[in-house]
Amino acid sequence: MGPPGCGKGTQAERLVRQAGFSHVSTGEILRREIREQTPTGREAQRWIEDGRLLPDELMIQILRSRLDEQQLRRGGILFDGFPRTLAQLEYMEAWLAEIHSSPLCAIFLHIDRQAIIERLSGRLSCPQCGAVYHEKSRPPQQTGRCDHCGAPLVRRADDRPEAVQERLEVYERQTAPVLEALQRREQLIRVDADRPPDEVFTQIVEAIGDISDECE
Ligand code: AP5
Repeated sequence: MGPPGCGKGTQAERLVRQAGFSHVSTGEILRREIREQTPTGREAQRWIEDGRLLPDELMIQILRSRLDEQQLRRGGILFDGFPRTLAQLEYMEAWLAEIHSSPLCAIFLHIDRQAIIERLSGRLSCPQCGAVYHEKSRPPQQTGRCDHCGAPLVRRADDRPEAVQERLEVYERQTAPVLEALQRREQLIRVDADRPPDEVFTQIVEAIGDISDECE
């Protein structure tokens, strides 16, 4: 969890590759729907491009349709971008309790506003496989092309400065209270995300060890 551009997608990609988690990114699910211009994608597009969150009911319905109970029971799922509101947190906790899962544990990637703006203004994304690059800190090997699938890289529509501003405000208003609630219940581990990607990854791997111990 963390503000826009804190590095959730970047770190999730590594955790999936190196620790074998399955990755459930609500942002990626929605962007795929938009690319395919499904009815859900058309509905999601206007919320995302304005930098706002989808309504809780719609987001939960989409997530439930992509994730079955079997997957949840098997565990090892890394949620990226969910829950993002107190209503989503409440829903998720009830869902996990229903299937007798371990309680939710979260990693908070902490970073300041100026660093977020630098990251988002230089981000390049692969519209085909979802890989994430940065003009300065993580350039692709061939300019403008994805290293993994060769597709032309794009700038996300919600990385326009006005949309970034709105996303930061939405984060403070709707998502920060979720982090505070998890913090109060000691279900949140804070990581310094304003470090090079390898260092952030090391902190996360250590945090996951602590989380597993706490959840047992
Ligand atoms: P989502 O895709 O989840 O967007 P976000 O939370 O705003 O996060 P980002 O994807 O922008 O950033 P990130 O933290 O993954 O950073 P990244 O690794 O790319 O959601 C998009 C939209 O979908 C939402 O705004 C909303 O409309 C909707 N939505 C999604 N979930 C929802 C929900 N639960 N409810 C309702 N609506 C929902 O890194 C950013 C850049 O920094 C990259 O260029 C990267 O290369 C670079 N970088 C990363 N780490 C480092 C580092 N350590 N050092 C230097 N550069 C770095």
